[in-house]
Amino acid sequence: MKNIVASNLKMNLLSINEREAYLKRLGALLAGKKFTDTEIVLCAPFVHLEGFKKWKNKKVKRGAQNMFFEDKGSFTGEISPVMLKNFDCEYVILGHSERRKYIQESNQDVNLKVISALKNGIKPILCVGEDADQKRDGTDIVVEQLQDCLNGVSKGKIENVIICYEPVWAISSNNPDHLPTTNEVMSARLLIKKFLVAEYGAKITEKVKIIYGGSVAPDNAGTICVDSGMDGALVGKESLTPSSLVKIVEIIDGKPKT
Ligand code: 13P
Repeated sequence: MKNIVASNLKMNLLSINEREAYLKRLGALLAGKKFTDTEIVLCAPFVHLEGFKKWKNKKVKRGAQNMFFEDKGSFTGEISPVMLKNFDCEYVILGHSERRKYIQESNQDVNLKVISALKNGIKPILCVGEDADQKRDGTDIVVEQLQDCLNGVSKGKIENVIICYEPVWAISSNNPDHLPTTNEVMSARLLIKKFLVAEYGAKITEKVKIIYGGSVAPDNAGTICVDSGMDGALVGKESLTPSSLVKIVEIIDGKPKT
């Protein structure tokens, strides 16, 4: 199973010029490099999807940061999964904590989107994770999020979902100095695996990628993403610096094979 390093560019790259400079630099850094065990995915703001599609870099797959659950119609301001498909998006981030916080997205909203993405052949990167208060209180939010967001996802479809454990308290914009330990990430991974095994069985669970997100950087990708046994990373801030993103990919691609 390949690892995945997905970049969440969030609400950045504010102009076409900025986007083009970013892609030019990233393209130059990727030239001549081969990553045999890792897929790179760039999740761009919607307005850049066309530019990313035109970029045509074969080493990088495309993704979006959200979508609506209906295919078409009177849904002002929303973006259809069919549109994403037509702009070469193979992935979509769903249930990100920033959308849960600022747009009040619920697990039920996320569930509709997960089902719709899978129906349209787009792989959801489903974000789950506790915030600082839930961590302090020991609230088991991750299992509840998985249960609700994956409701109705069949045994035949679950391997197309990437689960991202993203402790909200470790996201760089929330708490720049706070990182989980390797053991904490490993425990979250086990918890997610246990849930998947109970719902889908051990054989199918082996095919589901579980990745880590939250302040991933070149100097910590080894301990929090590799040593913890994760299948990759969702990278926010550091993915805005192409050299950091490529370094993270190199670290994850070079991880010891199990
Ligand atoms: P940072 O890598 O900036 O902490 O962001 C994590 C994140 O939200 C990725 O989706």
